[in-house]
Amino acid sequence: MKALVVVGGYRKKNTWHMAESFAEGLMKIGYEVEKIYLKSFSIKHCTGCEGCYKTGKCVIKDEMTELYEKIDDSKVIVLASPLYFYMVSGDMKTFIDRGQPFWERTHRRKETDGTNKKIGVFLACNGGKYGHDDFFATYKPLRTYFGSIGAEYLINYYVSETDTRPVMERPDVLEEIAELGTKVNDGKKYMIHV
Ligand SMILES: Cc1cc2nc3c(=O)[nH]c(=O)nc-3n(C[C@H](O)[C@H](O)[C@H](O)COP(=O)(O)O)c2cc1C
Repeated sequence: MKALVVVGGYRKKNTWHMAESFAEGLMKIGYEVEKIYLKSFSIKHCTGCEGCYKTGKCVIKDEMTELYEKIDDSKVIVLASPLYFYMVSGDMKTFIDRGQPFWERTHRRKETDGTNKKIGVFLACNGGKYGHDDFFATYKPLRTYFGSIGAEYLINYYVSETDTRPVMERPDVLEEIAELGTKVNDGKKYMIHV
């Protein structure tokens, strides 16, 4: 089974290590994992042209085109992003917005029948001091995105204080993330914030 790990961070730091650790866990239970670093892709913004209303497909031809297929082919979709102004990074937001054809297919065209349900995972970090509501603003966008691609939004792992306590210096955190990667098939929901 395939898993797609989409990284919306720009540095080889916290987000990158979180994604790597989760991927390790997935591989341990036999997933074939592909990692996508959005900063290496040229993906245009959704312009709201309504092209996907007609066919369920995006009319923009750019490097997102190959990612649509990868999303369709993957059982597990992991999105990993730093928080920028308490939202996902700009690249990740653009990637999510370009998911509108999935929303069209699922909600307006009702082309999906709910079989072969995917699993949605969101990994995120923020540099500032821990606050219980740090990741609140991301929840609804992620829930809507995962619902659109036919995924059950099962796992959240949030790490705060990465500017003062980077995950690279917190092996317990990375171990817990890797462990969580081995549990994706259990069907349980996780919302962990450290
Ligand atoms: C443009 C920008 C905006 C940020 N906004 C926030 C924020 O709103 N809250 C916060 O706690 N940290 C914020 N940070 C800090 C990042 O979340 C933090 O440095 C994180 O570790 C970055 O991920 P990375 O280490 O994977 O690059 C911001 C950083 C940048 C560059």
